[in-house]
Amino acid sequence: MLIKIAKPSDLRESDVTPESVYLSRRRFMGGLAGLGAGLALSGTAKASADYSDVPDGDAPAWLQGKIDSSRRRAVVPADPETDAIAPFRDASGYNNFYEFGSSKSDPARHADRLETQPWSVVIDGEVNNGGRFNLEDFASPSRFEERIYRLRCVEAWSMVIPWLGISLADVIQRAEPTSKAKYVRFETLVDPEQMPAQDSAFSLIDWPYVEGLRLDEAMHPLTLLALGMYGRELPNQNGAPLRLVVPWKYGFKSIKSIVRISLVEEQPVNSWQRIAPDEYGFYANVNPEVDHPRWSQATERRLPNSLFNPNTLDTRMFNGYADEVAELYAGMDLRKHF
Ligand code: MTE
Repeated sequence: MLIKIAKPSDLRESDVTPESVYLSRRRFMGGLAGLGAGLALSGTAKASADYSDVPDGDAPAWLQGKIDSSRRRAVVPADPETDAIAPFRDASGYNNFYEFGSSKSDPARHADRLETQPWSVVIDGEVNNGGRFNLEDFASPSRFEERIYRLRCVEAWSMVIPWLGISLADVIQRAEPTSKAKYVRFETLVDPEQMPAQDSAFSLIDWPYVEGLRLDEAMHPLTLLALGMYGRELPNQNGAPLRLVVPWKYGFKSIKSIVRISLVEEQPVNSWQRIAPDEYGFYANVNPEVDHPRWSQATERRLPNSLFNPNTLDTRMFNGYADEVAELYAGMDLRKHF
């Protein structure tokens, strides 16, 4: 987050699509069908990926059952060249998870210390039906779906990742928000025994890692609570056992290893905004026209890449999901509300 990455380039237009794809536990086959209600998407899907490098997970039986029987619905990037699904080893080996250190390889190296079973999530604040729920009770009433999304980090790298999860809107509806609920605030676990960098004297973050969404953003059908990726449960370094995925926002909004979801009246202050309010805002919508003060956001490095193939793409407004989400921000000055 506090580093500079250079990149120039060009790319062509692509779009999310109305089709879903058949995604087996090991192989993505590319069959087409209709997308879930509520999403108005356009385009045509063509995508393929090989999951042969995905190691077996260790999901509890209830979650494995949900994963196996998920409806395999996916919002699929349209361009199989520029939007190829990242190999699992990249998605699980190049991470930001500052609770385990600040280098990209730290999370994969240290996150096995995180104990994800059992896990509970608190829902509180402006709700009539809150409480502490074990993960199974929290997630299993919701329909599991597979979603292939672009993830665009504020540091100007990106990947395409097939997530597995539940709609945040469904969880919020069940909690029965009161009329005072205007925002949703999320918190990551705090436990330096399991998350060693939380004890580091060099850490910039005032733990817990906190994120927030406006209620209508949280209720948007693209907003996912992920419990898996690549047809298996989440690896710890990717935010097991429960993380947020908001595909039109910079990756730092997608908070990992969530233990608390609070419906609140006031706009939360998220962790990166607290550290550097001139650099990281509350909205953090992907926007190629609003540069980070220390680097351009016009392009991105699509992973995997190499010295010989930098794979630099033009960044698209709302990460290419403008048709679905632009109306949430109608009339807002996006330079001010960055
Ligand atoms: N959540 C927590 N709790 N701690 C973090 O450091 N990093 C964020 C986000 N969620 C982070 C987090 C950032 S900066 C990014 S880009 C994404 O996680 C990266 O997700 P990935 O490692 O699964 O690609």
